[in-house]
Amino acid sequence: MSLRTVLVTGGAGFIGSALVRMLIAESSWCIVNIDKLTYAGNLESLSQVMNNPRQVFSRTDICDRDALDRLFAEHRPSGVIHLAAESHVDRSIHGPADFIGSNIVGTYTLLEATRAYWMSLATGDKSAFRFHHVSTDEVYGSLGAEGLFTEATAYSPNSPYSASKASSDHLARAWQQTYGLPVLVTNCSNNYGPYQFPEKLIPLMILNALREKPLPIYGQGDNVRDWLYVDDHVRALWRVFEKGLPGETYNIGGHNEKTNLEVVDTLCALLDELRPRGDGRRYQELKTFVADRPGHDRRYAIDASKIEHELGWVPSESFQSGLRKTVAWYLANPDWIEHVVSGEYRSWVKQNYSDRNAA
Ligand code: NAD
Ligand code: TYD
Repeated sequence: MSLRTVLVTGGAGFIGSALVRMLIAESSWCIVNIDKLTYAGNLESLSQVMNNPRQVFSRTDICDRDALDRLFAEHRPSGVIHLAAESHVDRSIHGPADFIGSNIVGTYTLLEATRAYWMSLATGDKSAFRFHHVSTDEVYGSLGAEGLFTEATAYSPNSPYSASKASSDHLARAWQQTYGLPVLVTNCSNNYGPYQFPEKLIPLMILNALREKPLPIYGQGDNVRDWLYVDDHVRALWRVFEKGLPGETYNIGGHNEKTNLEVVDTLCALLDELRPRGDGRRYQELKTFVADRPGHDRRYAIDASKIEHELGWVPSESFQSGLRKTVAWYLANPDWIEHVVSGEYRSWVKQNYSDRNAA
């Protein structure tokens, strides 16, 4: 049986690299991994799979149509899982331009390159093909104290990040409705786990605590997020890619609603246990309340019953077990952290690409 190939975008990022590592370990698929290697793309997150012949890495911008056309022609994938995006809300507030470029124009360019390739396929390959667009629950906006986001919740994005993701979701949907491209969309809650860039809440708090720096909590710390361990997310993505119905959206979530304060308190307690500060001092003492994020969404919470009932996916990790694994991973991988903090993780890019191509 010939091996099938999936083209993954954003495979050097946090979730994309977890997906690529999982596919190499647990499937027989080949992966064409394309990533622009922005500040968030880190080839050290792929060290386990870089020499595996089933994984081919290409430093490519999804806005580069010619490069995408060449990759499709060369590798002839059976589907695309599209994760490449600018992903951090605070960065989107300070500089939205890259979010418009990569998340909206990039998704449009990828959809058009995919459509041209898909149109060239024979009938059987064409109907088996899938374009899986990976998105966020943030497109639904903010919840009050009650209720959950379902697949029928109206879009109401509040940040430049979520607005750019909402735009890309609408483009993906339109390419299905207008051109018949077999599109799947997933909207997932907040992820955490190993290899997450230390600008997001959980890894930032771990790193700051280990460096005896303040733990900045926006506002009162009472905003709520619904946390999912990254390996649970990538298993859900693969389930949807293999079994989902084209044209459908699936919400993915962990049934783990926590206030930010609860998250930071749990992290502090885990660090007190696993890496005590000494002299009886507690990590809690580093907590610092800072100015709130503008337009800060109050609460996110996912109703994941559709993917559970229709595709049989449920998360494996509880918040306690997943957070313990995450803290243990950051403690066991000081080199990864050191290279990210020092910027050394970008040396491969510098060595292999001229300044003209550098991100
Ligand atoms: P990340 O920032 O860690 O990784 C994004 C990757 O995309 C990086 O490797 C980056 O180099 C690459 N990239 C950015 N712009 C690109 C471009 N123009 N061309 C090619 N590559 C480009 O993000 P993540 O947390 O792994 O998120 C991956 C996807 O999942 C995103 O689409 C995000 O919206 C979505 N998502 C994330 C979360 C979360 O909690 N992290 C939750 C739900 C959905
Ligand atoms: P983040 O990890 O940036 O994810 P998102 O904004 O996509 O949900 O933030 C998670 C929550 O933590 C969010 O409510 C903002 C808050 N937060 C802080 O309180 N302090 C911080 O330093 C960061 C980065 C986030």
